[in-house]
Amino acid sequence: MTKMVAGAELTAMVRDSIGHAKAGTISKTPGILKLAASRYYDPELFQKEVDQIFKRVPLMLAASSELPNPGDFKTMEAVGLPILIVRGQDMIARAFINSCSHRGTNVAVAPTGNAKRFMCPYHGWTFTQKGELMGVASADDFGEIDKSCYGLTPLPSAERSGLIWVIANAKSDLVIDDFLSGYDKLLANFGFDKWHFFSSRVLAGPNWKIAYDGYLDFYHLPVLHRNTFGEDMFNQALFYAWGPHQCVRAPTANLIEMDALPEDQWSNEDVMSGVWTIFPHISIASFGGGGRGVMVSQLMPGKHVGESFTTQMYLTQDPPTEQMLAEVDAQFKFLEVVVRDEDYATGLRQQRALEGGGREFVLFGENEGGARRFHQWVDTLLAADDEELKALFRPGAIQPGA
Ligand SMILES: [Fe+2]
Repeated sequence: MTKMVAGAELTAMVRDSIGHAKAGTISKTPGILKLAASRYYDPELFQKEVDQIFKRVPLMLAASSELPNPGDFKTMEAVGLPILIVRGQDMIARAFINSCSHRGTNVAVAPTGNAKRFMCPYHGWTFTQKGELMGVASADDFGEIDKSCYGLTPLPSAERSGLIWVIANAKSDLVIDDFLSGYDKLLANFGFDKWHFFSSRVLAGPNWKIAYDGYLDFYHLPVLHRNTFGEDMFNQALFYAWGPHQCVRAPTANLIEMDALPEDQWSNEDVMSGVWTIFPHISIASFGGGGRGVMVSQLMPGKHVGESFTTQMYLTQDPPTEQMLAEVDAQFKFLEVVVRDEDYATGLRQQRALEGGGREFVLFGENEGGARRFHQWVDTLLAADDEELKALFRPGAIQPGA
């Protein structure tokens, strides 16, 4: 167990959870909320969400531990945009549109790798790790161009707390740190910058909001997951928000034990327990099979309203030893079954049932404050123009659910 001295905000959150655990309470959001069922299947609304949310706010696209060394790169598509993230010799992780300035094909094709430079596979133009156009193939034949104008298009990005955020819009001037609302400083307590990437895979799921609701939901745990996590799971949750980002914690009995300890004796595992979500599409949950690890789930809307794709990524605090590898692998496989066969199988049935059109509303109870806040943020961002969006994240701004 790693001992830690938690920062004041983190300590305040844990103290609040301890208070609830001792009193046997949760913080409720008053009243039953009805949301239109169509928000999960309306194709026009879905397109707006892609444009107004996923193409405007920073997305957490990579863990630093996926790119530990200079030259390490990762490619992916985010809401249709091909993206290349590469760590330079200066150890800075940069993001670019993965598209050659000559004719536009991807300059990096492999999902991951290490490269000193990127040579476009079509005509052989080369780009540096900083995205600069280095060489034009048969330059004399091609004719003169100003190479400084034809680098890869950079995307706004920031590496914080061992995670890398990218805005899938080269023209955005939203300040990523403003968007993070200080939440990254709490996430820093995991120490992900020193963790290790184990493996990842992709699961297909329902509408991204159906999937995301589930990550903010402990209410379902002992029911839907009774055969996997078991029926003793807590179904109560406490929600703590930093901007649109929320940490979800259960008021469990071990909090009462923590109360009896001096704060510098609290373990990092206990302090960082719960589900750490990052708006609009990330959940980070802790597990212990084969040593301390987390599963980072990264949700992306699919091509149509009823489809999403989740990259599940497993990170371990220590490099797994030969002995631990099988256990880590078993833990990660177990989580695939839980999410695919329980959460997403149920979510896909929910999707089809709602698409049937026979239900006007879905309900959120007083105990479901996390999902309620999430939907409020979705609606706020859909209504906000670019200036209003920036204003929402300026320090001191009045935010949804505040
Ligand atoms: Fe679940």
